[in-house]
Amino acid sequence: MPPKSKGAGDKNLKSKSPAEFFQDNKGIAGFENAGKSLYTTLREFIENSLDSAEGIGVLPDVDISVEEVTLSQYEDLIGLKTHVRKDSALYADIETDKEKQKRLKDEAKAAAKAAKGGKADAGGGGKRGGAKAFFRVTVKDNGKGMAHDDIPNMLGRVLSGTKYGVRQTRGKFGLGSKMALIWSKQTTGLPIKIISAQPKSKFTSRYVLDINMEKNEPNVHSAEKTPNDSAWHGAELSVIIEGNWTTYRNKVLSYLRQLAIVTPYAQFHFRYESAGGDARQNVDATFRRRTEVMPAPPTTTKHHPSAAKENQLLIKDLLSQTRHQQGVRGPNRGGARQGIRARHGPQGGHRHAGYQNTAAAVRREVRRPRRRVPVPGG
Ligand SMILES: Nc1ncnc2c1ncn2[C@@H]1O[C@H](COP(=O)(O)OP(=O)(O)O)[C@@H](O)[C@H]1O
Ligand SMILES: [Mg+2]
Repeated sequence: MPPKSKGAGDKNLKSKSPAEFFQDNKGIAGFENAGKSLYTTLREFIENSLDSAEGIGVLPDVDISVEEVTLSQYEDLIGLKTHVRKDSALYADIETDKEKQKRLKDEAKAAAKAAKGGKADAGGGGKRGGAKAFFRVTVKDNGKGMAHDDIPNMLGRVLSGTKYGVRQTRGKFGLGSKMALIWSKQTTGLPIKIISAQPKSKFTSRYVLDINMEKNEPNVHSAEKTPNDSAWHGAELSVIIEGNWTTYRNKVLSYLRQLAIVTPYAQFHFRYESAGGDARQNVDATFRRRTEVMPAPPTTTKHHPSAAKENQLLIKDLLSQTRHQQGVRGPNRGGARQGIRARHGPQGGHRHAGYQNTAAAVRREVRRPRRRVPVPGG
């Protein structure tokens, strides 16, 4: 029971939401610095696209674009207007000449030292000549899209997704796209834009949302349904984040080359557009599909018996999920405390059959153990 007396508790006791935890520990999800975050955002979005198209057996077509956003464009987006200082005399320098000379000398020394040691922004930070660089990352696919009402939870709540089953997918934790959103919220404060339509849907869902970090809840800015006249299906996700293209350009391109090799049935179109109007820096690359044959989709597997034998939590979990619960009762033979109650079937089942029925329900949910094959000499 919580203590009643005032002041008995530790003032430092706090609890964090999953969103706050991953914001504080971005590194474990591949968001260490601006360059790496740009790269990981692309990876997370592209891999969601592949999962999505493969999920409905469609040859994936993924359109990826990275557009550099200038500082003034960014300031426009966040509604910041820069004003020219009218009366500079009002802002007289409070530094004395001597102090100013010392500061300039120190700054020059520090810059020379950084240049010598090669430390200046070598880790892929977003600063370019001292200024931050921003990018609009957009990834569009022809996959299964998302149900209109599910979108806020899919993309605005950390640790939520549809891939938690025992089935092979690229995503697993319900984290990737939310990390990109957390990074964008932290570095630019701008929300994610989502356009999505499910196969045969008459409408397209359009969302603008971000995440309430304390509550780990989606915060929807706008949601609307527009007609889907072209019968399109898929999803398009777009975020504006701080990044570093210069240091991660090669890494992004080699990732796409490798991805095109391991998924020859997918087609990728990648576009990079620099803000300076210097076309030489732009990239436009298509990685064509080399086969129309897609591997059979992975099937949902059952847990291995050894996992179910050793993991008490897994057993509990399986029992709560299984459809085969007829007559299953808790291991308490006396019946004083009821364990797992039958969902269907005869009320309560056989009391003394508790252990056997629990075991039988677990057995149905795990794989059949393989027969031991004698290993020569082993
Ligand atoms: N491009 C997409 N198309 C369809 N569904 C998507 C797409 N991107 C994300 N989703 C849905 O949102 C969920 C959360 O995605 P994400 O945060 O990347 O976690 P994970 O991929 O690990 O499940 C996914 O499980 C998927 O159902
Ligand atoms: Mg994912």
